[in-house]
Amino acid sequence: MRKSIRKYKPEAVPDAKLDRILEATRGAPSGKNGQPWRFIVVRNKTLKEKLVPACRNQSYVAEAPVVIVGCAVEEESYQKQGGYMKSWPLDLAIAFTHLILAATAEGLATCWIGAFDESEVKKALDIPDKFRVVGLTPLGYPAENPPHKNRKQISEIVSYDKAPAK
Ligand SMILES: Cc1cc2nc3c(=O)[nH]c(=O)nc-3n(C[C@H](O)[C@H](O)[C@H](O)COP(=O)(O)O)c2cc1C
Repeated sequence: MRKSIRKYKPEAVPDAKLDRILEATRGAPSGKNGQPWRFIVVRNKTLKEKLVPACRNQSYVAEAPVVIVGCAVEEESYQKQGGYMKSWPLDLAIAFTHLILAATAEGLATCWIGAFDESEVKKALDIPDKFRVVGLTPLGYPAENPPHKNRKQISEIVSYDKAPAK
């Protein structure tokens, strides 16, 4: 089962694995099939190290052989999701989930990084203004095997034929 990994082996990610992961990511659904996503595959050591301070000094970001940065083009997304919102954060989250699950199936590890400063990530990778940075993940072979984190019970999160009690 997938879990977040925060220690990585230096071993490279084989290109064939990376290609299959990106292919699974490409197949994600999106609002009106807008596919407003772009993925920056960062393998250069200097660039990876520049990302660490941009990610609140989470040093394992640079430990993995690959970091993937998920970006969105707002205007390519569905503009009236639910009648009130733009779909790009959802589209990116779904695509990133495909990426993370495909990586797990390949025996690779990831950790969704949401604690980052968008302007610092943009500066580190020279990303133009028109893109929004939605999330990052290191990608590599795990060098730790932490226990699974606990989850709420099904009875706490699912209700049948009625609204949640709380
Ligand atoms: C939107 C989002 C942002 C997250 N940001 C971070 C982060 O910046 N650093 C980190 O170490 N983990 C981050 N995580 C991982 C969560 O802490 C982790 O998924 C959660 O504790 C459950 O653990 P598990 O993924 O091992 O099941 C993030 C997860 C999500 C979905």
